[in-house]
Amino acid sequence: MQWDAAYAIGQSAVDGDHQRLFQLFNQFGAAIAAGETRESANRFLRELADYSAYHFRREEGLMRAVGYPDYTKHKTMHDTFADFVRRQSDSGTRDPEEVQFLQSYVEMWLCGHILVMDKWFGEWLDGRGGSSGTAAPTA
Ligand SMILES: [Fe+2]
Ligand SMILES: [Fe+2]
Repeated sequence: MQWDAAYAIGQSAVDGDHQRLFQLFNQFGAAIAAGETRESANRFLRELADYSAYHFRREEGLMRAVGYPDYTKHKTMHDTFADFVRRQSDSGTRDPEEVQFLQSYVEMWLCGHILVMDKWFGEWLDGRGGSSGTAAPTA
C-alpha cells in the first residue's frame, strides 16, 4: 500500500494515523514475502487491533467534538472492522491461504474506508469552514 495525497483528509493527526496503518500493513507484507506467515500474521493482527482501536478513538472523538452528522454510521463501520480483527487475532492457527485472505481484506477495507468514509468526513469539515474543531466565525 503506497501512501499518496489522494488518501489525505486534511487533518494531520488522522492522516498521520492512516500513514502508520499503511506502514504496519507494509511491514506485514514484507514479513510474508520473507516467508514468515503464521507468526507475522498473529503479530500484525495484534498490532493492527491495538493501533486501529487507538486511531478509531481519535477519529470518533474528533467527530463527536464537531457534531459530525454521520458519526453513528461511521462508528458502526469502525466497530465491525475492529470486531473482525479481534476475532482473527484470537484464532490461533492459520494456513497461507488464510493469511493471504487477511492481507487482501485488510488492504481493501483500509483503502476503501479512508478513500470514501474518512474523506467524506474531511470534506464535511472543509465545507463547514474550518478544520480546527470550531466553526469559522461569520460576520
Ligand atoms: Fe474512519
Ligand atoms: Fe480513519
